[in-house]
Amino acid sequence: MKIGDIDLKRSWPALAGIGAIIAVLAAAFAWTSGLLGQRVTNMTFLEDTQHDFPAGYRRAHGKGMCFEGVFRSSGEAAKYSHASVFAQPETRAIGRFSIGSMSPYAADNSTSTVSMAMMLTADNGQQWRMKMNNEPYFPTRDAPGFLEMMKATAPDPSTGNPNPQQLAAFLAEYPEARKYMEADAVKPWASSFAGATYYAIHAYYLLAEDGRRQAMRWWLRPHAAFTAWSDEERAGASHDALFKEVGQRLTKAPLQWDIVMQLAAPGDPVDDPSQPWPETRQQVVAGTLEVQRVFDQTDGVCRDVNFDPTLIPAGMALSNDPVLATRAGIYAHSYNSRLHEIGYGKATDAVGKKTAQ
Ligand code: HEM
Repeated sequence: MKIGDIDLKRSWPALAGIGAIIAVLAAAFAWTSGLLGQRVTNMTFLEDTQHDFPAGYRRAHGKGMCFEGVFRSSGEAAKYSHASVFAQPETRAIGRFSIGSMSPYAADNSTSTVSMAMMLTADNGQQWRMKMNNEPYFPTRDAPGFLEMMKATAPDPSTGNPNPQQLAAFLAEYPEARKYMEADAVKPWASSFAGATYYAIHAYYLLAEDGRRQAMRWWLRPHAAFTAWSDEERAGASHDALFKEVGQRLTKAPLQWDIVMQLAAPGDPVDDPSQPWPETRQQVVAGTLEVQRVFDQTDGVCRDVNFDPTLIPAGMALSNDPVLATRAGIYAHSYNSRLHEIGYGKATDAVGKKTAQ
């Protein structure tokens, strides 16, 4: 049989081959997007996102406040990396303080997680973006483990406590999470953004001009003293206590944090965010962040930024940490959703249009 110039009998093997390629590609796309199989995708992480707050907000850490400031390099990190941010004396910083709760309407005493996001833009336009929490390491070696932990620690409706069998099964699969859970249970609740230490948790590489490559992790060490809430103080804290407090502090003086880089020794695990390196490892103070001013998060300066921790300047490189890669995908998804809502005029409070909640 012929259709135009094509002899179907002779062309059959070729057509079957093309059909098979299309079927494989379709299955691959379906698997990648999570439509096929049980694979964990960005959507798996975001599907439980609350929808009881209006459009335009971040899908997590919804309550926040923008800041502006400056990063002053000490010059020390320039010995390890040719990134301009370490060579030039001052770099403009913008960022955002937030709390770990999802809802933008959460009370400041609803979570012990306080966070800082920041973007440094060097004179050559290169950017270093980061999202950090006040926790020194991740609970699990990979991102699916984090989902498993959420499930295993969720209260069983019949008892109000986590199911012991489920918890034991989780810890057998992810034994590294035990130290995180034990530390989290006794973690003091920061009573100020100012005195908290913010950890990037993943390893990155510093790349020197002469080709040297040094794995490192960094954190932001506050100049202000750490202060914690007692149980009574936390219970009685006002709804916006942390955000008000940081605003009040800044009316008196700027706030400072040193960017401390911990350098890996040979053999230190580079791709596992659940394994902190020994405290004895060499540290380098790359410079000091000075936060000078805070303002409302409805202002686009921090509102419309994805502080994606995989956006780093030349002179730095990413490790193969699977959690870091997963975060980039999740953040892009959350960012696209909220900017889509803002762009299509659906956002209200999130862009400063005051409406009833
Ligand atoms: C797999 C685990 C994680 C999930 C599912 C997750 C999810 C999210 C989502 C959906 C957002 C909103 C992003 C946006 O719309 O811009 C967010 C923000 C944030 N996350 Fe994560 N995250 C995870 C791990 C982490 C880790 C390990 C850290 C800290 C080291 C972190 C720190 C932050 C911070 C600071 C923000 C607020 C960023 C801002 O102010 O713009 N997250 N997270």
